Amino acid sequence: SPSDPDLVERARAAKERLGDKVFVLGHHYQRDEVIQFADVTGDSFKLARDAAARPEAEYIVFCGVHFMAESADILTSDDQKVVLPDLAAGCSMADMATAEQVAECWDVLTEAGISEQVVPVSYMNSSADIKAFTGKHGGTICTSSNAKRALEWAFEQGEKVLFLPDQHLGRNTAVRDMGMSLEDCVVYNPHKPNGGLTTDQLRAAKMILWRGHCSVHGRFSLESVEDVRARIPGVNVLVHPECKHEVVAAADYVGSTEHIIKTLEAAPAGSKWAIGTELNLVRRLANRFASEGKEIVFLDKTVCFCSTMNRIDLPHLVWALESLAEGNLVNRIEVDRETEQFAKLALERMLALP
Ligand code: 13P
Ligand code: SF4
Repeated sequence: SPSDPDLVERARAAKERLGDKVFVLGHHYQRDEVIQFADVTGDSFKLARDAAARPEAEYIVFCGVHFMAESADILTSDDQKVVLPDLAAGCSMADMATAEQVAECWDVLTEAGISEQVVPVSYMNSSADIKAFTGKHGGTICTSSNAKRALEWAFEQGEKVLFLPDQHLGRNTAVRDMGMSLEDCVVYNPHKPNGGLTTDQLRAAKMILWRGHCSVHGRFSLESVEDVRARIPGVNVLVHPECKHEVVAAADYVGSTEHIIKTLEAAPAGSKWAIGTELNLVRRLANRFASEGKEIVFLDKTVCFCSTMNRIDLPHLVWALESLAEGNLVNRIEVDRETEQFAKLALERMLALP
């Protein structure tokens, strides 16, 4: 839907008043009405790096979800303030691993006598607490654009990986990129005693996958891939690695949001694409590339927006920018010092990956 012209003007004016004091970051899943005000757009990895590269900005307004704003706070200096325009913009996947559950899991691994061989690798889509746990136990963070390198690094440090919280990204990377088999992976269910696993299963596993998933990407199915191939002959299927293993295995290409965009930029005119990721991004890409004769469709019409990403709308952005312009610091995301110290260790290991 077209943005309200009055709100557009107010956002523009507030941004102008703030000048270099504000830097607006926008994740690719944000609404068009919001993304038009982003100084940079990117996937989770690029935004983490871009946030850290703006020491002159007093305010970082993060148009994305809570864990991204936390990561930006961790990676920026103490006097920079990170603002999330709507505090309800969380991530259901990140919520699937709490600090208590993960501590309990580590106890289970210790009981099984394997915790010394295990290196935690946590997806960016996790709370600062989980990142701190990861840093404390010698592990690293990864995003969908560097998960393979993170796993390679982790298997140089230890024999097993505890992958949190997205089982699909963990499994897809292990099997598709690292040549492991499905049997090398077990799923740890935090709602069951011992994770629902026997000690023998834990000892035999190479990848211990946390039982978390993305509610948006989890809805693409093998059937969606088969249907689109039947409907559009010659279509290329390109999906995000948060999709289930069977979807990723049936797709032609797999990658992060940034990778999806780069792939379509490089695609020849006349090519046809079915994209398995969040709807705001797919629609934007379909519109953008239509004039170049690239046909882009959504992989499955029953899958929709990420509801928490969509919480950040133009009214919330205007409110945040106008408040900042008037000197009111609203919706600050601030990670406490101790958590920050260990979470930063894990994030810096990621940034240092080759
Ligand atoms: P990327 O932008 O890193 O591909 O991540 C997708 C996502 O789900 C962010 O929440
Ligand atoms: Fe979380 Fe999925 Fe939304 Fe990304 S798309 S923010 S993983 S719920």
